[in-house]
Amino acid sequence: MLTMEDIIRDGHPSLRKVAAEVSMPPSEEDKQILNSLLEYVINSQNPEISAQYGLRPGIGLAAPQINVLKRMIAVHLRDDTGTLYSYALFNPKIISHSVEKSYLQAGEGCLSVDRAIPGYVPRYARITLKGTTLSGEEVKLRLKGLPAICFQHEIDHLNGVMFYDYINHEDPLRPIEGAIAIER
Ligand code: NI
Repeated sequence: MLTMEDIIRDGHPSLRKVAAEVSMPPSEEDKQILNSLLEYVINSQNPEISAQYGLRPGIGLAAPQINVLKRMIAVHLRDDTGTLYSYALFNPKIISHSVEKSYLQAGEGCLSVDRAIPGYVPRYARITLKGTTLSGEEVKLRLKGLPAICFQHEIDHLNGVMFYDYINHEDPLRPIEGAIAIER
């Protein structure tokens, strides 16, 4: 199983690289890696397991964060209505998005960033994405709210983009005009 020792931190050059497409059908090795990403996120939200192994809780993880430069992400979270979004995807791709933006009122964090970086991170309020699951099924997801933000954060990792790249560093908490503030 993955632990914090497997997660590379801010400043590691791999976090700034563009990850390669995973060829389909995926190899057993790629499936195992993707499964380990999802397992980490699930374990990290279990108080006993996270305490035992020193896992920092997270809601998403991307393969480049364990220094694997391939397009794979895992997300495990509940939205404000309690609906579970638990996905491990190969080659996730945003195929359309709203013009409207949203942002997390509390800012974003990242398992590869050990310090808190305050500031609003503008994201698309709604996205539609495609990807392939561990079982080889192609899925199309329509997302808004926290799930939409989380998937955008993870897909950014596949393109070498970090959440703080979007923060207005002169005025990190300047209201983002027309954007939906999401409380968590
Ligand atoms: Ni991150």
